[in-house]
Amino acid sequence: MATETITGSETASQTLLLEQKARSNGDVYRYAALLPHFSNDRYPPLGPFQFSDPGHRALSHSNPRAFLDNASNIIHLTPALGTEVHGVNLANLSGDHKDQLALEVARRGLLVFRDQSDFIDKGGDFYKQWGSHFGRLHIHPTSGHPDGLPEIHLVYKDANSTFNFEVNDSVTTTLWHSDVSYELQPPGLTTFFLLSQPSTGGDTLFTSQVSTLKKFSPPFVTFLRTLKAVHSGVEQAEFSRSGKRGGIVRREPVENIHPVIRRHPVTGEEALYVNKQFTRRIVGLKKEESDTILNFLYDHVAKSGDCQARVHWTPNTVVLWDNRVTAHSAIIDYGESKERRHGARITPQAERPIPAWDGLKLDDSKV
Ligand SMILES: [Fe+2]
Repeated sequence: MATETITGSETASQTLLLEQKARSNGDVYRYAALLPHFSNDRYPPLGPFQFSDPGHRALSHSNPRAFLDNASNIIHLTPALGTEVHGVNLANLSGDHKDQLALEVARRGLLVFRDQSDFIDKGGDFYKQWGSHFGRLHIHPTSGHPDGLPEIHLVYKDANSTFNFEVNDSVTTTLWHSDVSYELQPPGLTTFFLLSQPSTGGDTLFTSQVSTLKKFSPPFVTFLRTLKAVHSGVEQAEFSRSGKRGGIVRREPVENIHPVIRRHPVTGEEALYVNKQFTRRIVGLKKEESDTILNFLYDHVAKSGDCQARVHWTPNTVVLWDNRVTAHSAIIDYGESKERRHGARITPQAERPIPAWDGLKLDDSKV
């Protein structure tokens, strides 16, 4: 195999080159059709759309957990966050069952389904059909996607290349975030799975932002409810423009203002909604005030192990989380193994974040 490191804008052609070399060595990658492709397409700004949460429909079902009736084992990862399910084939869920799934993910934050080879092997068109049940599919402005499938967001790292957002000048690879929170309507129910994984390492950390919020005193929560913050996609775009992660920006980055505490539209639960990767400042506060509060919140999220769960990726695992009430971080501890980690994300957008406090106005201030 080639040993060069790929980080620049020549990545698309070099990915193909590496695959051709691998094939010539008799090593045909099973998911070659789902390798990252970096088209030079340009996308217009995302427009608003009407979102209706499928979890709402499940509230009227006689048994909103009927989709789990055939499960052979159900394990709560922690009391407040995460449930692991065995014996349910996601590929066979009916529309009603998918609605129930959305509600259950909203309630538990995170669901982990094992033994989902049927789902994973159905391929890209099925992934799109699956995700479209839950909302309009987000097309990422910078990440690689399978050729012809821009709705599928890919993460990818192997011995020769990395197409992840990886910061090298930090003492940790942990970077807590809620996916693309800079969008006006950030994602809700999100599906993610690995097509290839290292033999050990590469787990994913999750935290419940409902739980992290509950740790605060009532007066502090009352104060946070009055705040709104700027979320920015600029730094992510600049990372790509600097030649990393495929080196392409297909949609100009945006900044949007979201409430610091949002309310889930189905469960009504309040969740902390700031993250170190994309939140930049609290609107209306002086810089030192904003920095101090945000850094306190980021630090709280990072060190609250009693709000977190960790997913270990056994082959054919499919994970779903509600991006509105959780945050997560990759763990890049497998780099020296040179093994491939190749993941696909299906990312339906949801509602514009709803302030926990009805009196908070989002449109009366500039970014
Ligand atoms: Fe993420």
